[in-house]
Amino acid sequence: MMKDDEMINRGPVNISTKKEASALLANSSDTVFTQTNQFSSHCLIPTIDNYKQLYQASVDTPDQFWDEQAKKHLDWFTPFTQVSTGNFIQGDIGWFLNGKLNVSYNCVDRHLKENKDKIAIIYEGDKPSQIEKITYYELYLQVCRLANLLLSLGIKKGDTVAIYLPNTPVAIYSMLACARIGAIHSVIFAGFGFESIISRVKDANCRLIITADEGVRGGKTIPLKKKIDEVVCHCKTVEHVLVFKNTGGHVDFNPQKDIWAEEAMLEQRPYCPPEHLDSEDPLFILYTSGSTGQPKGLVHTQAGYLLYAAMTHKYVFDYQNDDIYACVADVGWITGHSYIVYGPLANGATTFIFEGTPTYPTPSRYWEMIERHKITQFYTAPTAIRSLMKFPTSFVEKSNLDTLRVLGSVGEPINPEAWRWYNKFVGRERCSIVDTYWQTESGGHLITPLPGAIPTKPGSATLPFFGIIPKILDPQTGQVLDNADTTEGVLAISRPWPGIARTVYKSHSRYLLTYMKPYPGYYFTGDGVKRDKDGYYWIEGRVDDVINVAGHRLGTAELESALVGSYCCAEAAVVGYPHDVKGQGILAFCILKEGYEDDENTVSILRNEVRNTVGPFASPDVIVITPSLPKTRSGKIMRRILRKIACHESSPEQLGDISTLAEPEVVPLLITKVLKYI
Ligand code: WT7
Repeated sequence: MMKDDEMINRGPVNISTKKEASALLANSSDTVFTQTNQFSSHCLIPTIDNYKQLYQASVDTPDQFWDEQAKKHLDWFTPFTQVSTGNFIQGDIGWFLNGKLNVSYNCVDRHLKENKDKIAIIYEGDKPSQIEKITYYELYLQVCRLANLLLSLGIKKGDTVAIYLPNTPVAIYSMLACARIGAIHSVIFAGFGFESIISRVKDANCRLIITADEGVRGGKTIPLKKKIDEVVCHCKTVEHVLVFKNTGGHVDFNPQKDIWAEEAMLEQRPYCPPEHLDSEDPLFILYTSGSTGQPKGLVHTQAGYLLYAAMTHKYVFDYQNDDIYACVADVGWITGHSYIVYGPLANGATTFIFEGTPTYPTPSRYWEMIERHKITQFYTAPTAIRSLMKFPTSFVEKSNLDTLRVLGSVGEPINPEAWRWYNKFVGRERCSIVDTYWQTESGGHLITPLPGAIPTKPGSATLPFFGIIPKILDPQTGQVLDNADTTEGVLAISRPWPGIARTVYKSHSRYLLTYMKPYPGYYFTGDGVKRDKDGYYWIEGRVDDVINVAGHRLGTAELESALVGSYCCAEAAVVGYPHDVKGQGILAFCILKEGYEDDENTVSILRNEVRNTVGPFASPDVIVITPSLPKTRSGKIMRRILRKIACHESSPEQLGDISTLAEPEVVPLLITKVLKYI
């Protein structure tokens, strides 16, 4: 059954979050930033007119456009017989019907003929000296061996496999090995804690988990296998655990279930025929947070997803043959799926994968990697840029960054100050900056500049990618808003595109309820947006109970349920507040159970509870202990008021009428408490 709170998507716009975003964008200039990319004339789409022509074709004759693209970018075992089907009313979307293909074949095998010895993957471990280069042929052998190992363990088409690995090449082998045999992978970010892993493994009935002994980030080891040992005790469906050696650290080995992956792979034949899969067979599940405590397992399918990832990778990064392309995200998120693995490999690119952090061993790490590998495209998140901006510019100035052409940003709105720093110190004012707006659900970029073609404005994701028809709706009435000047409202998309997730695993009704029901006939993104007089889009952030912390999407309900899971917490309410590095910080209001004191010890118990259950990246920045929370007389927490307090919008005019609250006197108390921290 659906919970009522899932319905809030159509609720009133979360003004505080929007204000936060507007504050971040406050010094944005409306002047068009002239494209200074000296390579413009060599770009794949060199002018704005080229973009407009292609965009127009993609929306005027979509089936013809996508038919051509699917034939151009993908290899098919059996051609499709129909380009598209379905709509947002029924949620019955399908692309390239009856076509048969294999994603791992498209990402690996088809490049062997001409590019067997081309480097497919460059890996850097946590230490700068840990460098590995893997050719397409080596990648092929590894994927085949691992695919055969999975088959030998009884994994077959349609089975689900959980992947809990550090950001290393074995994560890529694992994803592609699943894709080769038609198993559905569910990558679980290695930063997730115990409860988050269990709920994901259980929800997808995973038969096998692929993990490693340990991961290493910023000089710290992360015990992965140990965590999986605990998980396996609680998840009956898991028959085997494949363990890769990453650090060589000690693990407890259970001979009944555990298998050393490298050893077992050596026993496997390095050829595995690729399964002929239907375009609409599921490729992977990826969980994402929403308005309720239970994350949604979004399902992406084979052909549409791969085509969309490949095309966006090619055009948005202006990917050309000898480029060395680097996305420093983690494969545990959609950015890693689409822009470390599937997009670049489908295009036969050299893709970079990085296990470490931006400041280890020094804040020059990214820039040294760019120089070391002659990286041409670099893709990161605003939070990383903001954290690196804090260091003296000498850390970036000393590296030779001449090879760079395109700089990407993803995950949250980029404030113009960070945009300008990125452009000046990293791009040296001669690169294209692409601020890519998209989501786990969209599979690939929705609104983004194209290098060479679309002039940029710092802070704006600019214009829609091919086939994307954005609409701005009035949040209350759902009416399409279309002023010639500035338009502001919630962002929806009016026609399916190939990369859109097709369902929520085992819960299609939740898919419909979350994305299609709020505004019938549209896909609802959950974001607020403004469009300026030039038609440029400015994303203003989530309008639901989702917060975006350092580019990680977190449901406040998920965090609250972790907090009340602690033995000392009776009730909790979590909101975001503006944070100068992370975009949003996490502020938790907690009511303690009888017998617990408001002291450092209690606060650290609460913080650890979130770290252990959800993961360290979700650790609250501020925990405010309170005797009560602002509630309506019917007992509903007034989050609107908490958000305003968190954003220091707490004058009587800003707070509005609080007389309907059960205990209005708690409001001034919370205002004073919050002021102590933020
Ligand atoms: C949410 C999706 C897309 C991969 C990483 C995050 C926010 C994402 C931008 C951007 C402004 C952005 C939105 C979106 N977002 N990119 N360029 N400008 N906001 O994927 O975890 O599914 O989160 O991230 O709020 O809805 P995700």
